Amino acid sequence: DGKIPHTFVIFGASGDLAKKKIYPTLWWLYRDDLLPKPTKFCGYARSQLSIAKLKESCKQYMKVQPHEQTKYEEFWALNEYVAGSYDGRTGFELLNQQLELMENKNKANRIFYLALPPSVFEEVTVNIKQICMSVCGWNRVIVEKPFGRDDVSSKALSDHLAGLFHEEQLYRIDHYLGKEMVQNLMTIRFGNKILSSTWNRENIASVLITFKEPFGTQGRGGYFDEFGIIRDVMQNHLLQILSLVAMEKPVSCHPDDIRDEKVKVLKCIEALQLDDMVLGQYVANPQGKTEDERTGYLDDPTVSKSSSTPTYALGVLKINNERWQGVPFILRCGKALNERKAEVRIQYQDVPGDIFEGNTKRNELVIRVQPGEALYFKMMTKSPGITFDIEETELDLTYEHRYKDSYLPDAYERLILDVFCGSQMHFVRSDELREAWRIFTPILHRIEKDHIRPLTYQYGSRGPKLADLKCEENNFQYSGSYKWHNSKAT
Ligand code: BG6
Repeated sequence: DGKIPHTFVIFGASGDLAKKKIYPTLWWLYRDDLLPKPTKFCGYARSQLSIAKLKESCKQYMKVQPHEQTKYEEFWALNEYVAGSYDGRTGFELLNQQLELMENKNKANRIFYLALPPSVFEEVTVNIKQICMSVCGWNRVIVEKPFGRDDVSSKALSDHLAGLFHEEQLYRIDHYLGKEMVQNLMTIRFGNKILSSTWNRENIASVLITFKEPFGTQGRGGYFDEFGIIRDVMQNHLLQILSLVAMEKPVSCHPDDIRDEKVKVLKCIEALQLDDMVLGQYVANPQGKTEDERTGYLDDPTVSKSSSTPTYALGVLKINNERWQGVPFILRCGKALNERKAEVRIQYQDVPGDIFEGNTKRNELVIRVQPGEALYFKMMTKSPGITFDIEETELDLTYEHRYKDSYLPDAYERLILDVFCGSQMHFVRSDELREAWRIFTPILHRIEKDHIRPLTYQYGSRGPKLADLKCEENNFQYSGSYKWHNSKAT
């Protein structure tokens, strides 16, 4: 784009997401000279704020090194802030004047980041379209979940957006698509003969995709209670990972070729059934060391006392196609568990014709998304030495060791940069979203209509015991004998 100025507008600039993620990300991109020049930033929200105040509220998340101080001040000097309401035109007219001023009335490209509650989403997008669009440059709009709460509401939102913007202008963020190991899935699968030829129902027993967090709702109870873990994590982050693990090889690495394949595999998945789920809700651990651990989900003052919202969910998806029929894809996610971890486990079948008296364990390819990115392959080996015993070991690619000095940017850094570059590869297309809701809407409605009570599990535990049994029933073997020792502490 040569020297055309860029303006980045943050709606919801006074909110949590803006201060924890968006402003820090913009700063890091600016710090590393990754943004086109010139780029300026303008916040918009209801509260009266000065740049000084905004700067103060972001401070603890910006990770500024002493030697970066001058550049840090330069960054804030490129920022403006406009206060205005989300309905009515006045605020947006003011905003547009401010943007023109910042762009010296030159041709400019604009990015609008909507870090907003769903309640104001429609008005804001209408106002952007009517009042704030760049006339000569391009316009791109970044949207954050929740993208509706079921198929119908999501369709209404998609239709609304489609009435205002082209799909090429819309960047639906699922920040898991910005993580190193998630982005690596395509290379792992399609750049390795040994994996591509075993990636099927003839060799793989089951696939387990896990997300665990060691803390509870932490003040987000109000939002969380309305959505629950299935909408918060499973329907988006875990399903996105599943689609990259399970899709057929795309025709090319073009974003639409990839997204075509993701949609195709999602279409082969039947809607989730209650029999294939385990739901949980955490209760306090009275012996817990922190206040948080001693606070159960229902003790959170922002959560309804009789809430049946799950904070843990395990669901088994079946992919009805030639590659995967009969291979369970187990998705599980939960809050207030024993550790922080996100990973994919591809468990291979037992070796046929055993000669080791049943002592072989299954091969497993583990793609560790976080913390401590790693790819390791669990395999059997002869115990070293005079013995003829066998034992489990691993081929280990731990990034911390193998790629010591490489910098792995935060997911938001990659994704926001992609928006500047116009690459939609790591963003969710509307038809992907539609399929995701098709798979999860019936179960979500059933849980809500029938007030299905989740099982309780204690804060800091591994989750409901029934979940392990469900994995076993679905051809995932967990022996507990093996411990991955190479990871950074959580
Ligand atoms: C968000 C969820 O999308 O992802 C949060 O709304 C969750 O509930 C978060 O904590 C996890 O993201 P990360 O990058 O910390 O694993």
